[in-house]
Amino acid sequence: MSLLSRLLAPPVLSRDEELNAAVEGKVVLVTGASHGIGEALALRLGRVGARVLLAARSQDRLQEVCLAIRSAGGQAWSYPLDLRDPEQIDGVAEEMLQRHPQIHAVVHNAGKSIRRSLRKSLLRAHDFERCMGVNYLGPVRLQLALLPSMLECGGGHIVNVSSVSVRLAPAAHWAAYHCSKTAFDLWLGAAVPELKPKNIACTSIYFGLVHTRMSAPTKEYQNMPGQTPEEAASVVCRALARRPRVLQPWWLGPAHWLSAPLEPFTEWIQSKIVSSS
Ligand SMILES: NC(=O)c1ccc[n+]([C@@H]2O[C@H](COP(=O)([O-])OP(=O)(O)OC[C@H]3O[C@@H](n4cnc5c(N)ncnc54)[C@H](OP(=O)(O)O)[C@@H]3O)[C@@H](O)[C@H]2O)c1
Repeated sequence: MSLLSRLLAPPVLSRDEELNAAVEGKVVLVTGASHGIGEALALRLGRVGARVLLAARSQDRLQEVCLAIRSAGGQAWSYPLDLRDPEQIDGVAEEMLQRHPQIHAVVHNAGKSIRRSLRKSLLRAHDFERCMGVNYLGPVRLQLALLPSMLECGGGHIVNVSSVSVRLAPAAHWAAYHCSKTAFDLWLGAAVPELKPKNIACTSIYFGLVHTRMSAPTKEYQNMPGQTPEEAASVVCRALARRPRVLQPWWLGPAHWLSAPLEPFTEWIQSKIVSSS
């Protein structure tokens, strides 16, 4: 990782020994395990002895990742799942619990990103519904289905793979993505007081730029410093090993506090940029 990327990103966990001690033999569900951060995470968890459950829509990709984990001596199971489909979520959750009555950790990583102006969104209300489905309603439904078993088993860990944007001022063209990521972030925050006394830890990870299939279409991001999927996966590994409430870049705390008083200024700047483009 370049020095600049390292400075701008949340802290990682490099040592496999610490991760191995935390997850060996434990069942960890990773949503969005077919590509990007989720794929890199599933592979690393498989290498250190976790029993990895992989969920996403692309069945072929999931099977490839599963096979890679198994060929290296690890344990993995694939669960094709579209998080926008409530019936599928209920069915897959039931199937997972039948085979793995205790799921120790759930990493809500699957995500859909859309960057589009209001003008281009006029006939695309479905953009907002899709983002809400994948980034908010689906994860909530999945977590509700898995929660009773976590409670019965005496604990667990819920990890939300989120974005720095949910802690900053609103950004033009990103409403569908940011609103849906913020919704799940708030949902989890509201769940913490009920879950913590039950020994269920919750971690919110706020990522900056990660160079994946998701960020690739945004030309401005291509030459900006960002993490690789493997580096981002090692941030999630740090969350799984240490169970902090929040993992974020050092600069996000001050930026979060400044974003409210500076909002009139950021609105003004953005309106200049948007109207000149
Ligand atoms: N990349 C960044 O710069 C960045 C920054 C901040 C936060 N994040 C967050 O990081 C997470 C992972 O993103 P990524 O960058 O690794 O993107 P990615 O490479 O596009 O991976 C997204 C994953 O989500 C899955 N997914 C998408 N729609 C789904 C659906 N309807 N049902 C089930 N799974 C679905 C995809 O699998 P299928 O297509 O096979 O379903 C894929 O495995 C996301 O939550 C994203 O919001 C990313």
